[in-house]
Amino acid sequence: MRPIELKKDIYWVGAVDWDLRNFHGYLTQRGSSYNAYLIIDEKITLIDTVKEHFADELLERVSKIIDPSKIDYIVSNHVEMDHSGALPKILEVAKNATVITSPNGAKGLKAHYKEDWKVRVIKGGERLELGKRSLEFMLTPMVHWPDNMVGYMPEEKILFSNDAFGQHIASTERCDDEYSFEAVMEEARKYYANIVLPYGPQVQKVLASVSGLDIEMIASSHGLIWRSNVSKIVEEYSKWASNETEKKAVIVYDTMWSSTKKMAHAIQEAFEQKGYKTVLKNLQTNHISDIMTEIITSEYVCVGSPTLNNNMMPNAAGFLTYLKGLAPKNRKAIAFGSYGWGGQSIKQVADSLTEAGFEVKDSIRMNYIPSKEDLDKMIEEVKEKI
Ligand code: FEO
Repeated sequence: MRPIELKKDIYWVGAVDWDLRNFHGYLTQRGSSYNAYLIIDEKITLIDTVKEHFADELLERVSKIIDPSKIDYIVSNHVEMDHSGALPKILEVAKNATVITSPNGAKGLKAHYKEDWKVRVIKGGERLELGKRSLEFMLTPMVHWPDNMVGYMPEEKILFSNDAFGQHIASTERCDDEYSFEAVMEEARKYYANIVLPYGPQVQKVLASVSGLDIEMIASSHGLIWRSNVSKIVEEYSKWASNETEKKAVIVYDTMWSSTKKMAHAIQEAFEQKGYKTVLKNLQTNHISDIMTEIITSEYVCVGSPTLNNNMMPNAAGFLTYLKGLAPKNRKAIAFGSYGWGGQSIKQVADSLTEAGFEVKDSIRMNYIPSKEDLDKMIEEVKEKI
């Protein structure tokens, strides 16, 4: 339960959630962490807290550095309960602390906890003096909730970015250069695809605001702290936020008797012949949050479902609902599926993709079992459409 000193008198005092496997529907195979930071200065400052049931862990880590009752400021960068859940308990101990938050943060904390805490509402661009150091706040609404803000400490060149630049990883390592770079980037991509994706324009504004800052460390609220790959993760965020894609097709499907699966493989063949990188994802064996990690960099999303009881398969419907909510932009799509008599699923898939903002380039139906000739013809048809 030791705190970790990141720079002189700046400590990680958060919690590691080794058991977390589901974060509102997002599969977190590697667990997560809730990063809170303690700054020892003339004003003792805690940046964010942790989930409610980790409050004692946080207090224990703080106690190894300083008496928690001496905390002057608790910065609440984001109301969501993975960061504010422990706040009521911390404030019972840090009785004199003032909560520093955004205008929407003040409303959100009140709506969550119904308490009359001592709150100082921060305006965008406002600076909070801590002593030798300070925090300059930028309001970053919708990255990830309307209340979000980030704090930049110019004296130490640290950006306390809350959800932005996070990854769901539980680890004893705290910094990016202590962990597998590929794994951190993959989890950062998954995090962006499943949490941040709907807010691309807001992310672009944040990136524009931080572009002039000299940043040595991005201390996000989940996963590893960026200190060796700051420019790399900012560059990737810039690509993801601008919906930059690769020549790549993700083919997502469910299947009953393998006919739609055969169609999925034919579509994959067509894209490969046209020089695309392809990824095949059976919804029976892949979680939708892992599929999103592939979609974030993909120009095409092809979705297939056979018809079951006049509908698409429930797995396909669930995936398309999730996709619509995350709303990736500037993508193209193909709907496909086999059917016995009604064949409604293919139009339903195409309509859902259109509703989600995709440009649907083709809808392909096959009756019962496609023959080799059918599939060969289908490959040529897809090649012509893409
Ligand atoms: Fe990590 Fe939006 O909370």
